[in-house]
Amino acid sequence: MTRFIGIVSGKGGVGKTTTAINLGTALTKVGNDAVVLDGNLTVPNVGLYLGVSNPRATIHEILEGKSLVEDATYLHSSGLKFIPGNIMLNALEKLDLNQIRKAHNKLKGISESVIIDTGAGLTKESLAVMSMAEEIIVVTNPELAAVTDALKTIKKAEEKNITVLGVVLNRVKEENEMSLENVETMLGVPIIATIPESEAIKRAQAQRHPVVFSDPGSMASLEFKKLAERLKQ
Ligand SMILES: Nc1ncnc2c1ncn2[C@@H]1O[C@H](COP(=O)(O)OP(=O)(O)O)[C@@H](O)[C@H]1O
Ligand SMILES: [Mg+2]
Repeated sequence: MTRFIGIVSGKGGVGKTTTAINLGTALTKVGNDAVVLDGNLTVPNVGLYLGVSNPRATIHEILEGKSLVEDATYLHSSGLKFIPGNIMLNALEKLDLNQIRKAHNKLKGISESVIIDTGAGLTKESLAVMSMAEEIIVVTNPELAAVTDALKTIKKAEEKNITVLGVVLNRVKEENEMSLENVETMLGVPIIATIPESEAIKRAQAQRHPVVFSDPGSMASLEFKKLAERLKQ
């Protein structure tokens, strides 16, 4: 059975794509066959983060029925498999939300886990993509604005009977706007990973690699690996 796990937030720029590619890589490393799917259909960047800037087949062509899933699945040198999005603006105009719902069937069985990176906000498109997942991980920073938006997303997921696996608290520094306890209390969901503010993540991004691959000993990488172990059970 394939597990569809959505990586969601509310606020943009909190670290969803970073979490998706690193969790995918860490799962692959611990022997779980994972594929990262770019479900940020408006401004996809999984491909860009992994060094594939203009892919010929993408999730957009799969949704349109023009490409097979196999042809839109790419392999990063880390061993991570991923399905990027089409970065051309007109790719989005052709999309209809019903196709997103049907994509679940096309992707079922391709791997043990499909990690779905999503767009920010609670737009129709983001909600349709979130509905592809049976489970979600909520990414936030320890800041009130991000946590407030995360809470709205959690409520939406609960309305849709999607299981909230937990919160990835990203960009944690020595001094934070909100304490970890306050984030947990406000969201009512456990923190399942705490990722520090990390120079290694920035360096990895510049090299178009997941940090788990380029700097496996960094604190951030160790946290992503712990999360993968936890999800594998
Ligand atoms: N823990 C971190 N430490 C340092 N930089 C980070 C960290 N997490 C994310 N970033 C950087 O923040 C930016 C936004 O991250 P991204 O994963 O693209 O967020 P989102 O997908 O939620 O918009 C990227 O440039 C990324 O490299
Ligand atoms: Mg993103």
